[in-house]
Amino acid sequence: MSYYRILGFEKEPFSTSPDPEFLYLAQGHQATMTNVLIELRLRRGLSVVLGDIGTGKTTLSRKLIQSLRERGDFIVHYVLDPCFETEHEFLYSLVRNFGINMEQYNPGFSQGSGSRYSVMDLKEAVEKFLYEKTIIANKTVVLIIDEAQKLTEASMEILRVILNYETNDTKLLQLVLFGQLELHSKIIKIPNFMDRISFKYTLNPLSLEETREMIHFRIKQADYCSQSVLFQDDAVEMIHEISQGYPRKITMLCHRALKQLVMKRKWSVDEEVVGEIVSEDMRAGWLNQQTHH
Ligand SMILES: Nc1ncnc2c1ncn2[C@@H]1O[C@H](COP(=O)(O)OP(=O)(O)OP(=O)(O)O)[C@@H](O)[C@H]1O
Ligand SMILES: [Mg+2]
Repeated sequence: MSYYRILGFEKEPFSTSPDPEFLYLAQGHQATMTNVLIELRLRRGLSVVLGDIGTGKTTLSRKLIQSLRERGDFIVHYVLDPCFETEHEFLYSLVRNFGINMEQYNPGFSQGSGSRYSVMDLKEAVEKFLYEKTIIANKTVVLIIDEAQKLTEASMEILRVILNYETNDTKLLQLVLFGQLELHSKIIKIPNFMDRISFKYTLNPLSLEETREMIHFRIKQADYCSQSVLFQDDAVEMIHEISQGYPRKITMLCHRALKQLVMKRKWSVDEEVVGEIVSEDMRAGWLNQQTHH
């Protein structure tokens, strides 16, 4: 029997996978969702969400996709890991993933492999596709890129060009970039790109109150069926202090704390349980003694 069932959960409450059902909308996450959705509806072009490691970017991007897919008027394509070496590779991946039919937009072509098309051909097909979907079919085409700090200069240049595709009153592609903080230094080096950002936000670690709410939210989402207080206040404070409010660290600590409960046959996480995890990490050299007592 899995440890979480023993404790009275239906699902695993502190898995580290980026499941949008387990995303607690802290103030920054909520602000990002609301604003990005507004920008997308207004077809304003480019939104950029920055955040340190483990602040919830991937989970938030999935939540965004989930809410866009529930609506019929968005065409959404998601790039998880934009490691494209050449302009051609990047463009061809867009063509394939948006399901763009090269023959339809370039009648001279017959069915063939991607390498037969030039960068110009691919750009042209993307532009025609975007025009058709946005202007004729009245859909909003959205490209969401996670790990955007990995985009090469060549890929950034392609994105800049595509963002230029517009009519008098609307942009043809809506782009949302999620990336670690170094994405910022990449973007400021390209003023043309920087200028086009209509919404930008940096996700910060959670406050103590948000940490508490995030823990309770995840417990609730995992269908906890008991009235007892699973995480006592002093334990939550300690978790906040150790994790510095970083959601991935909070999640991992809570997961370990629950496993400890099962091993120790206890029913509530208190300071002692968290303390044991900390000392275990210290003994193993994972934590620096000076930073945590
Ligand atoms: N607001 C939140 N509420 C609940 N859980 C969260 C929240 N933010 C992040 N998490 C959890 O923290 C973990 C890490 O989140 P995620 O992978 O989205 O972070 P990230 O910013 O994409 O990290 P990286 O920079 O390493 O790509 C996941 O398990 C996720 O469920
Ligand atoms: Mg991520």
